Amino acid sequence: EKSGYAHFMLKEIHEQTRSLQKTFAGKLSELEGNVQLPELKLTDEQIRNIGRVEMIACGTSWNAGLFGKYLLEGLAGIHTDVSAASEFRYRDPVMDCNTLTIAITQSGETADTLAAIRNVAQYESSTIAITNVVGSTITREADNVVYTHAGPEIGVAATKTFTAQLIALYLLAVHLGRRRNYLLPDEAKAIIKNLKELPGNVQQVLNQRDIIRKYAARYAANRDYYFIGRGLNYPAALEAALKLKEISYIHAEGYAAGELKHGPLALLENGTPVVAIVTKGRTYEKMLSNIKEVKARGAEVIAVADAGDREIGKYADIVIPVPVTNPLLSPVLSSVALQLFAYYTALEKGCEIDKPRNLAKSVTVE
Ligand code: F6R
Repeated sequence: EKSGYAHFMLKEIHEQTRSLQKTFAGKLSELEGNVQLPELKLTDEQIRNIGRVEMIACGTSWNAGLFGKYLLEGLAGIHTDVSAASEFRYRDPVMDCNTLTIAITQSGETADTLAAIRNVAQYESSTIAITNVVGSTITREADNVVYTHAGPEIGVAATKTFTAQLIALYLLAVHLGRRRNYLLPDEAKAIIKNLKELPGNVQQVLNQRDIIRKYAARYAANRDYYFIGRGLNYPAALEAALKLKEISYIHAEGYAAGELKHGPLALLENGTPVVAIVTKGRTYEKMLSNIKEVKARGAEVIAVADAGDREIGKYADIVIPVPVTNPLLSPVLSSVALQLFAYYTALEKGCEIDKPRNLAKSVTVE
């Protein structure tokens, strides 16, 4: 059932051209600049009154949650916090009836996430679950369910379900932003247009697989990797580092690039690979400065950058190009490129990619 692919993970990475489309199918109205989410049962008043969002998730889904924070703040004007479910459960969170809780869980069965959402019930506030599995336990615990429709994921490392979560969060952020009159119709139209182009863009990233494989093999003997990004590329960097750790057993860290000089720079040695996600956007110039800083310490910089960026070649040792799109959406493309990078690194090292040691697909014990 791997349809000719060597591993489920590789198959699932390739399925993203279709799975992303399934996440947004039937929900976009480009003409009006609106996203339809009939599955949300929130009234206009409830949406207007949202004071804060609390995202609850674990692992890759937590990285998606951080991504969602940037989107909900930027597109819907809603203050958002992101909590690891295992921390939220044992904290004293400050919540009230206007706090909207969003639990993100691919499997819908993660013990900590389920326990956390059960704790939220006491606040009599609204809850939304974002999940991939129809009828999973979380769907019975939350008042609203947004399905990611990515199809079953067999590889232990989350790939297509992660990008589907990102798309679900775009849908939610645009929907809430429009209903709160925070996001202008024209801004929403632009995002919707670019969302529709995303599956085609993903195909272009997949077409780079041979180059990505070559680069991955070149660095695979390294002991430590660093992944850096700013803004939405920061959660993408965290997720890329997690993917590499999980399947290749290489030590990898993701950082907000501006944080490097506050400690992690001390770790860099001659030849340490630093993967910089440096697509065009608000912090592009700042990223170039960060790349200069790491180059000055002898790091090897692998840049994920917009195709056609002429400047980046002067700074980075190698460049993995991704198609140019809305800066809000490019992290999806960078994530696909870096899923391939993690996959080919693990392949080079001969790891058991679909079933990494010590890990389970769904963590039903705390
Ligand atoms: C990473 C991975 C895990 C899960 C985490 C949460 O590739 O698969 O980090 O993301 O265990 O799982 P869900 O999303 O099912 O709650």
